[in-house]
Amino acid sequence: MLKSAHTPVLVEETIRALAVQPGGRYIDCTLGGGGHATTILERSSPGGQLLGIDADPEAIKTARTRLEAYSDSTLLINENFVNLQAICYKYDFLPVHGILFDLGLSSLQLNGKSRGFSFQHDAPLDMRLNPDQELTAADIVNTYSETELARLIKTYGEESHSRRIAGRIVQVRPIKTTLQLARIIEQVSGGKRGRIHPATKTFQALRISVNRELENLEAALKQAVDLLGFEGRLVVISYHSLEDRIVKQFMQRETRDCICPPGTPSCVCGHTARLRLINKRVITPAAAEVQVNPRSRSARLRAAERLSTQEDEHYKIVERLCSSAAVKANGWKRPTLLKKLRHVFLTA
Ligand SMILES: C[S@@+](CC[C@H](N)C(=O)[O-])C[C@H]1O[C@@H](n2cnc3c(N)ncnc32)[C@H](O)[C@@H]1O
Repeated sequence: MLKSAHTPVLVEETIRALAVQPGGRYIDCTLGGGGHATTILERSSPGGQLLGIDADPEAIKTARTRLEAYSDSTLLINENFVNLQAICYKYDFLPVHGILFDLGLSSLQLNGKSRGFSFQHDAPLDMRLNPDQELTAADIVNTYSETELARLIKTYGEESHSRRIAGRIVQVRPIKTTLQLARIIEQVSGGKRGRIHPATKTFQALRISVNRELENLEAALKQAVDLLGFEGRLVVISYHSLEDRIVKQFMQRETRDCICPPGTPSCVCGHTARLRLINKRVITPAAAEVQVNPRSRSARLRAAERLSTQEDEHYKIVERLCSSAAVKANGWKRPTLLKKLRHVFLTA
């Protein structure tokens, strides 16, 4: 088997949170090196199916090789997960038992010498997950106004020196490479201090902005809930506070029956809970995992389960009907019935 350079994090915790079962149908929205996907396929065998999505064509290539033994039960798509629902409809892959998001970058991308994600290697300021996209980090650094740059670095990097960094960038640009930018930030911040390089936050901000990471995550989470069948699981691993906040707030909102502002005399929103939290507290890696894989140290896993809704109740009834003697005697086919039902309820 091909050895992936990316070590998946919280693997057992993820499998448990997804409640992976033989014959189950799963979506890995962030396929990466195929680490989580391999374990999902192993544990859902026999009969398991996996739809793997990644915006990076290189990741798809790597994962395809790694998952070769499961080629009959996998569908790997080079797409952005912001189009999750459209992908599932296109390939008729719904409803599903579990959906995984393992956000951020893989080691394959961080270590890639030409991708521009890291200041450990000198490379063009690129940072695109998908090389077909037009906007690069160089475009942002060299064309945004000082105010826009400062706001971006502050918002997406939570960098307290954002104004100084933006000011210096505008003075010295054009800036073409990762090391050029890292050195400029080092100078502005008074050199390296502590364990975290002073350019870390600005690089994070640029990467988030280039790939619209936060907007895409919000949009995809909403779509994911609609794709889950009854008791289907949604599992998200995030690596920084901005992502984790989005996931936490999304799950909190979806677990509440009413989301009217506090003080509203009686409910006017009509919102109903669609999820139940699996773990009240966020799951983080054990010390032993962090020791073996230091990149796992910031991982935070949140998981929720799709609640029964009226549609799901219908789904369960048809599941029961399908296996009943009367249905079998009439020669009704289970897949046809389920397909019809899915069409009725999921496209409503
Ligand atoms: C941390 S890695 C996943 C690693 C994977 N779980 C494994 O075990 O190998 C994150 C992956 O998500 C992909 N990704 C990030 N944002 C994406 C998006 N909006 N759409 C599709 N893929 C995305 C990245 O290209 C990267 O390959």
